[in-house]
Amino acid sequence: MPPAAPALAATVALLRERLGARRPRTAVLLGSGWGSFAPRLSDAVELPYADLPAFPRLGVVGHAGRLIAGRLGAVELIVLAGREHAYEHGRADAMAGAIATLAALGVLLLVQTNAAGSLDAAMPPGAVMLVRDHLNLVQQSPLVGTQGDTRFIDMTAAYDPALCNQALAAARGAGLALHEGVYAWVLGPQFETPAEIRMLALLGARAVGMSTVPETILARHAGLRVLAFSLITNMAAGLQQQALSHAHTLAAAEATGAGAVDLLATVLQALEP
Ligand code: HPA
Repeated sequence: MPPAAPALAATVALLRERLGARRPRTAVLLGSGWGSFAPRLSDAVELPYADLPAFPRLGVVGHAGRLIAGRLGAVELIVLAGREHAYEHGRADAMAGAIATLAALGVLLLVQTNAAGSLDAAMPPGAVMLVRDHLNLVQQSPLVGTQGDTRFIDMTAAYDPALCNQALAAARGAGLALHEGVYAWVLGPQFETPAEIRMLALLGARAVGMSTVPETILARHAGLRVLAFSLITNMAAGLQQQALSHAHTLAAAEATGAGAVDLLATVLQALEP
């Protein structure tokens, strides 16, 4: 459900007060494995989602719900540590209130992160993929129920091409590997079958995961630019021997997240939005 107007207004008012003179223009949404990014912020102000009426109440292990405002070098950021997933209740608009809050605070760029399975042996666990485009295989939209012509948003360049190129250049300049490809959104919470993964490969997907796409749609609808990074935690179903599990995803993300976080920090400090 989109947030009720009073909940959104109360959330924005509280955050304006807590942010004081800070004017962050970039927000970073941290998915599984990316949690060690948050401690890199200096002068941090932190609020649990539970204090923010327009934000979701989170349940899944490994997805803490905290908003942190702080600085990375010279860049003011709002970091959202934790997202609610559509697989928890079947609704794609779980993060509508959070994204609406960012837009109301004047945020112009949403940088998303997630954990994903890889469909390409050349992109093994530990690799990071810049999302160039997505497949919304769930065929749900967080905009169902919104009104007006603005709901018919153009998704041609959903992942901002100019910022993608800056991200690639920044990674290259720092000698850090950054892959690129199409991210396929599946609802979950079950992992895919090998036949589903073969289908996704035929459709052009290079990574598969259970998040990000709804928030990209919400952010584009709110006029934000979007970048997204997938941390590869496993080869997708049928492409590795080991059975897939949430515990394995979290453990793999934990083991390789530091490199991904270095890359994210490098890119964020190089972007010129
Ligand atoms: N499939 C779907 N979501 C995922 C995967 C996967 O293989 N790995 C991490 N998130």
